[in-house]
Amino acid sequence: MCGIIGYAGVEPAAPVLLNALERLEYRGYDSAGLAIVGAQGIERLRAQGRLRNLRGKAESGAPEGVVGIGHTRWATHGAPTEQNAHPHVGAKGLYTIVHNGIIENYAALRDDLRAQGIACATDTDTEVIAQLLDLYDAGSPLETLRKVLPLLAGSYALAILYRGEPDSVYAARLRSPLLACLCPSGALLASDAAALLPHSREIYRMADGELARLRRAEIQFFDASLNAVEKQPVAIDRHVTAADKEGWAHFMRKEMAEQPETVRLTLEPLLKRGGVDLGEADLKNPGEIDRVLFLGCGSAWHVGVAGRLVIEELTGIPASAELASEFRSAPITVNRNTLVIVISQSGETADTLMALRRANEAGARTLGIINVVGSSIAQESGSVLYTKAGLEVAVATTKAYSTQLAAVYAVAARLAQLRGSVSEGALQEFLHALAALPDQMEETLQSSESPALAWAQAVHKQEHAYYLGRQLDYAAALEGSLKLKEISYIHAEAYAAGELKHGTISLIEPGTPVICACCREDVLAKALSNMEEVRARGADVFAVTSDPQLRAAHVLRIPKTHPLLGVSLAVLPLQLFAYHCARLRGCDIDKPRSLAKSVTVE
Ligand code: F6R
Repeated sequence: MCGIIGYAGVEPAAPVLLNALERLEYRGYDSAGLAIVGAQGIERLRAQGRLRNLRGKAESGAPEGVVGIGHTRWATHGAPTEQNAHPHVGAKGLYTIVHNGIIENYAALRDDLRAQGIACATDTDTEVIAQLLDLYDAGSPLETLRKVLPLLAGSYALAILYRGEPDSVYAARLRSPLLACLCPSGALLASDAAALLPHSREIYRMADGELARLRRAEIQFFDASLNAVEKQPVAIDRHVTAADKEGWAHFMRKEMAEQPETVRLTLEPLLKRGGVDLGEADLKNPGEIDRVLFLGCGSAWHVGVAGRLVIEELTGIPASAELASEFRSAPITVNRNTLVIVISQSGETADTLMALRRANEAGARTLGIINVVGSSIAQESGSVLYTKAGLEVAVATTKAYSTQLAAVYAVAARLAQLRGSVSEGALQEFLHALAALPDQMEETLQSSESPALAWAQAVHKQEHAYYLGRQLDYAAALEGSLKLKEISYIHAEAYAAGELKHGTISLIEPGTPVICACCREDVLAKALSNMEEVRARGADVFAVTSDPQLRAAHVLRIPKTHPLLGVSLAVLPLQLFAYHCARLRGCDIDKPRSLAKSVTVE
């Protein structure tokens, strides 16, 4: 999703901005641009497509100057053309801005501007902000922002250049992240820590409603009434900064290989003395919890789909998983006795953040399972359990998913321990299997590599595939199918295995690939019947299983583990299979088309 950078310093701004934009590339974008305060005023340079196009333009004539802003745009309003690429300027050329987020009332604002004789030159929602700033200019950017920001509905992170103050970059944020830091050569602003970390590990996080002014050696923060705000920087760990493929062909493949270690790192502080220690995230008054609700989007929601079954089986507490984007506009049914577990790698997903706010407003107890320290969702969750996935660069998640699942197992076991809902023997059996999981993941990744490649060779030319599983195997099927479609562009759907015959089985034809996750012994017999149903219609059946007896056209065997943990192993060959399909199809694996790593719009 869109990325923002701003720099006010002493070095030539163009390379600083371009290098920072490169570190934001992983978020997904389709055009890029920058603006630099030069001798002739503020100059813009924009290009459609990859950042290399912008770099190419900069090499044959970058604007000179030491203050500037830059942007990678993931199109929402208006096609990804150069004309629509940020930065945008107002009609008088006073303000030049880049923007992340969505201005929901942009159409009405555009009409108002037109009525005042100001026509927008682009199809973007962002341009109305630049036009309004020019229109209401009060001679001081902070005063102008105070007048204009209340007119905007929606979300924004803004970096702004003002013609009258060539040494400054201004910033404002609402529901879209914005960070800043000081470094020896100046002050920087960015939407993502990845762009700032080469310059400093001491990062300031702007809060909703705050504004900032950056100059060479200082950053000033203000609240919406322009009162100065004192802020302390947050120190970011070294382990989150490693953005290097280290010899792997793709970040995604490297990150898959890192799963055993990151799961081990996530579990290490949690599994202690034959029990679970959640530290500051420990569950208060556990006897009062009468419902557990998981909230997340995409893969994070898939973790919730698995998590709800683990919670129910270990604690008997009714549990469900809802899509954050749906929860935020559904009738409120959570209360102080509901444990709402919010899952997010980035900690900035707008849908999840809004859902969390709703749960907080309803008085629910909220627990965030988050990867990015100090992110918005981490800050607003009642308590936080951090996953230790480190920086995940590939847009399609692998290691963040696995570490989230590991954290959910720990929470479920802690709840079971506190409520005494399983026998000590059963709890120890679960914890023992959990401690052994990283080694089994290692074994699974190794033994699955060549069969997953063979499956991909058989399937990669297909345009449709179906994934089946029951209970926790269904959660693995959901994640496997998402991996396949997002990186290989093969259309894939996951079904609870028993559901296919209620409609979708009409799509199974001779040769249709059907990938089955069959790890839960208690539902194996029924899953086998569902496999037979598709085989009878000519499907090419691929099965991931820990059952030594299971027979299918293509079988990939994974180690046996505790019945609640099989999903953590089953998902690994499904990731590898998707990866090899995408590779054989020549797809851009780390940056699939149209996708963004951190989805900061609703
Ligand atoms: C899929 C994927 C997405 C994310 C989703 C939530 O591979 O990565 O589905 O899981 O966008 O993102 P976070 O976890 O950052 O809230």
